[in-house]
Amino acid sequence: MDIVLSGIRSTGKLHLGNYFGALGNFVRMQHENKCFFFIADYHSLTTHPTPEDLHGSVKQVLAEYLACGLDPEVATLYIQSDVPQIPELYLLLNMNAYKGELERCTSFKEKVRKQPNNINAGLLTYPTLMAADILIHKATKVPVGKDQEQHLEMTRTFANRFNRMYKVDYFPEPVAFNFGEDLIKIPGLDGSGKMGKSEGNAIYLSDAPETIRKKVMKAVTDSGPTQPNQPKPEAIQNLFTIMKAVSSPDTVQYFEDKYNACEIRYGDMKKQLAEDIITFTTPIRQRIEAILADNDKLQRVARMGAEKARESASKTISDVRHIIGFREF
Ligand code: TYM
Repeated sequence: MDIVLSGIRSTGKLHLGNYFGALGNFVRMQHENKCFFFIADYHSLTTHPTPEDLHGSVKQVLAEYLACGLDPEVATLYIQSDVPQIPELYLLLNMNAYKGELERCTSFKEKVRKQPNNINAGLLTYPTLMAADILIHKATKVPVGKDQEQHLEMTRTFANRFNRMYKVDYFPEPVAFNFGEDLIKIPGLDGSGKMGKSEGNAIYLSDAPETIRKKVMKAVTDSGPTQPNQPKPEAIQNLFTIMKAVSSPDTVQYFEDKYNACEIRYGDMKKQLAEDIITFTTPIRQRIEAILADNDKLQRVARMGAEKARESASKTISDVRHIIGFREF
C-alpha cells in the first residue's frame, strides 16, 4: 500500500488548477491508500499575511477540502502548523541543503523576479520545508500539478542524501503523481501560463456563476483558424485544456471538429465552457458555504487530523533523531 500525501498553501481560496492538479486527484485515491492531506499554512507565511487573513484562509481551505469530498475519517486531514515535528525535520534537513541548489530552484528564481523586496530565507528554503512535509510521513506518492515536479525532485535529493550520509535506507523516494496520466497543468484565462492565485487569472471553486461567466467570456482568444487542422495557438489550446477537465468528451470533440473545419465560434465555446464549469463547481460551492457555517465540525476535523498526523510524524522524527545521533544520557 502506498503512502500518499499532498497539500495546498493556504493563501486564499482554491481554484480549478488546485482541484485538478492536487485535491481532486487525491480524493480519488483516499480509499485505496494510507493518505495524508494538509494545509500548508507555514508555507503561506513567506508572503506575510495578517493574523486575520492567515486564520481566515486556513478555515476557508479546510472547508473547501471537505466540500471537494475529502473524508477526514478515511484520510488524515490536518493543518501543517499543528504538527511540530514538521519544523523539526525541516531544521534537520536544512543542515544538508545547499545554498546553490536552493538558489537554482525555478520557483525561487521566479519569486526573486516578482517580489525583489521580500526575498526571505523562508522562500529560499521553501523546498526543504516541502521535503519535510513529505518525508515526515515517508510518503511515496505525491498528487500534485506539473509546477511541483522540481520540488519533488529536490525532495528525492534530500532523502537520498540523508540515506547516504547516515548509511541507512530510511527515506523512500517520493514521486509526483497524477491519477493514471501525466502531471496536469491547468492554464489561466489570460492566454499564457498556469492558473494561479497570484496571477489574477483563476476561476475559484467558490466563484458565483455570474463571476465565472464574466471571467470565461473575457478569456483571451484570436480571430480563429484560417486553414483546416491548423495547430492551436497557446491561448486557444488553453481553453481546450480547461474544457477537457470539466466538460464531457463529446463536447470537447464537437469543438475540436469545429476548430479543425475552421468553423469555430469562440463565443459559443466560451458559453459552453462557462456553463460546464458552473455545473462542476455549483455543488462544491454550496457545500463550502454550509461547512463554513459549521465551526464545530471544522474544529472537530482539525483536532482529529492533528492527533493522527502527530502520531505518524513523531515516529519518524524519533527514528531520524536516533539515526543522526541524538541520544538520551
Ligand atoms: P500550491 O498551493 O501553489 O498549489 C497546490 C497544488 O495545486 C497544484 N496547482 C496546479 N495544478 C495544475 N494546474 C495549475 N494551474 C495549478 N496551480 C496549482 C499544485 O501543483 C499543487 O499540487 N508547495 C506547494 C504546497 C505544498 C505541498 C507540500 C504539496 C507544501 N508542501 C507537500 C505537496 C506536498 C504549493 O505551493 O502548492
